[in-house]
Amino acid sequence: MYTPGADALRKSIDRMLTEANARLSVGKTTEASRSYEKAWQFADQLIEMLDDPEERRALSIRANEFRQRSRALHLKGLMDMGRVKPTDEIEADDKVYTDEEADAQEQQILLLIDDRPRSIDWQSIGGLAPLKEELKFHYGLAMAKLPEGLQIEGWQNIMFYGPPGTGKTLLACAIANKLNATFFNVKSSQIVSKWVGESGKLISTLYRVARKMTRDGRPSIVFIDEFDALCKSRSQEGQLYHQQMLAAILAEIDGFASKGRRNLVMTIGATNRPWDLDAAVLSRFERRILISLPDEAARAAIFQIHLGGKGIPIDERSMPYKRLAKASERLTGREIARLCKEVTSRMVAEMNPEIPELVDKSLSAIQNYTIRVRPLKRTDFDPVLAKLVADTSLEAEAHYTAWGQALSEGRVPVE
Ligand SMILES: Nc1ncnc2c1ncn2[C@@H]1O[C@H](COP(=O)(O)OP(=O)(O)O)[C@@H](O)[C@H]1O
Ligand SMILES: [Mg+2]
Repeated sequence: MYTPGADALRKSIDRMLTEANARLSVGKTTEASRSYEKAWQFADQLIEMLDDPEERRALSIRANEFRQRSRALHLKGLMDMGRVKPTDEIEADDKVYTDEEADAQEQQILLLIDDRPRSIDWQSIGGLAPLKEELKFHYGLAMAKLPEGLQIEGWQNIMFYGPPGTGKTLLACAIANKLNATFFNVKSSQIVSKWVGESGKLISTLYRVARKMTRDGRPSIVFIDEFDALCKSRSQEGQLYHQQMLAAILAEIDGFASKGRRNLVMTIGATNRPWDLDAAVLSRFERRILISLPDEAARAAIFQIHLGGKGIPIDERSMPYKRLAKASERLTGREIARLCKEVTSRMVAEMNPEIPELVDKSLSAIQNYTIRVRPLKRTDFDPVLAKLVADTSLEAEAHYTAWGQALSEGRVPVE
């Protein structure tokens, strides 16, 4: 169902894209950035009007691209004007920044904003039901109105730990989605190598931008993945920058706490190596939550998400989800997703052998062709299941549990 408003928005988006291309072709980078920004804003409005979830999803992916392009071009515009220098030289962290440089830093921070949470809901995550409820409750508590004089604190900062591929990033995205939060996705290893010498300053800029973005009442979530990389660094040279960045993050978290009022900037950390975290870090995160390997029921749910949930038919008499769950013991969510992809692509290849020929023939031949699928059967899964080796060893799994136990018993130092 399209309201006239939606049609007008579609036309406006097309107009902005044409305008952006025209501006780009004559080297007007900054102006092109503005056209993309408008295209993104129109797309955002249009998303709100669409009823079809598929269409919404497709458009939000495009909107995200417009936004990324707008930001990248803005930054390029600044560089072209000589206002920003690529920072490959190592600089002292206490240097004084001009307004333009500070502005350029903010631009870099804006590039960290990730729209992925838009497409990730609680239902996109299999299993973990009690944790989902707990998270909803505590973040709800942090957001709800407090009657005068009542002091109750929700969670501000949490740390997810556990084997890789178990849904830590997904959970952070789902929280951001539900709170309609701006999601800053920071992968510590990348940040340190990209922002050599500036990481401390950039962290304060990050939190400043995150606070700015909360002005309309929407919270900001700073998601710091691979948190352990900041605590134990492999190279001597990197160490200093890691320390600077870590100190800056802890200072930001403390700064909020000491203000003694609730604020809308929340930090979520994630790590596969919790034993590398120092006491100072652990103490700043009120909750440390183990995300372990999915149990059988969770695995069935994850298979359902990556097959049925994506419209891929499965013959449940031949291969019930329950059986898939039984046959995939010790697999992570990521491995299950990979398995589903492999089985699906084999089936699609088998059902559509003429595709390469059609591509050779003409563009219209392939565009007029509709992909064929058939329900997946037991025989599709068996060969893939037979060669499975779980990524997470028993020892590794035990290591997480033991560390969690030690932490809860006070045997892991927490400052
Ligand atoms: N519980 C889950 N439910 C559904 N899919 C999952 C789940 N856990 C992992 N996945 C799949 O694996 C991918 C990686 O998960 P991610 O959250 O990035 O893992 P982590 O951050 O713990 O390393 C996801 O994009 C998703 O496809
Ligand atoms: Mg992850």
